[in-house]
Amino acid sequence: MSVTSHKSEAPAAIAIRPAVLADLDALVALEHAAFSGDRAERRAIRHAIRSASMSLLVALTEDDTGRPMLVGAATLERRRGSLNARLSSIAVSPARAGSGLGGLVLDAAEADAKQHGCSRLRLEVRGDNGAGIRLYERRGYVRFAVIPDYYEDGMEAWRYVKVL
Ligand SMILES: CC(C)(COP(=O)(O)OP(=O)(O)OC[C@H]1O[C@@H](n2cnc3c(N)ncnc32)[C@H](O)[C@@H]1OP(=O)(O)O)[C@@H](O)C(=O)NCCC(=O)NCCS
Repeated sequence: MSVTSHKSEAPAAIAIRPAVLADLDALVALEHAAFSGDRAERRAIRHAIRSASMSLLVALTEDDTGRPMLVGAATLERRRGSLNARLSSIAVSPARAGSGLGGLVLDAAEADAKQHGCSRLRLEVRGDNGAGIRLYERRGYVRFAVIPDYYEDGMEAWRYVKVL
C-alpha cells in the first residue's frame, strides 16, 4: 500500500506493509525510541511478525540515500470467533511525530482489522498520553473504561473502541 499524508510536513511518500523478520532490528530500535517504559521485547516482536492471529504493519520511507527506512509500526491482535481486534501498539519515529504519520498508520491498522473480518478495534492508552488520546479521539474512538494501575509505573489506562 502506498499512501501520501494530507499534512505538508509529512514525508512525501510512505509505504505501509506487513513486517518481515528482516525488519526486526529496526522494530526494536523504534520501540526503544518511541516508548520509555512497557516496551515490547525482541522475542515478542518476532512472535507478532510470525503469528497468524496478529498483524504487525510497518511504515517505510526513504532516507537521503534512497534506502528504505522504518518510521512507524502498529501491532494488532485478533481472537478466533471475536469481531473485536485489539491495537496493542502503535508508534512512529520521534523525528516524524506530529506530522500525520500516526494517522496514516492507524488508517492502515483499521483497514487490516476489517480485512480480517473484525468490525471493532479496541485499544488501551496511558491516561497521560496526549498525542495518542488526541489521535484516537480525532478518528472517532470512544472511551468506554478506565483501568487503574495498568502500566509499569502505576499510570491508569484509558480503553477506547471504534466501530469500523
Ligand atoms: C501516538 C503517536 C503514534 C501519534 O503519532 P503522530 O504521527 O504524532 O500522530 P499525528 O501527527 O497524527 O498527531 C496526532 C495528534 O496529536 C497531536 N499531538 C502531538 N503531540 C501531542 C502532545 N504531546 N500532546 C497533545 N497532542 C499532541 C497532534 O497535533 C495531532 O492532533 P491534530 O490531528 O489535531 O493535529 C506518536 O506520538 C507516538 O509514536 N508516540 C509514542 C508511542 C505511543 O505513545 N503510542 C501510543 C500508545 S501505544
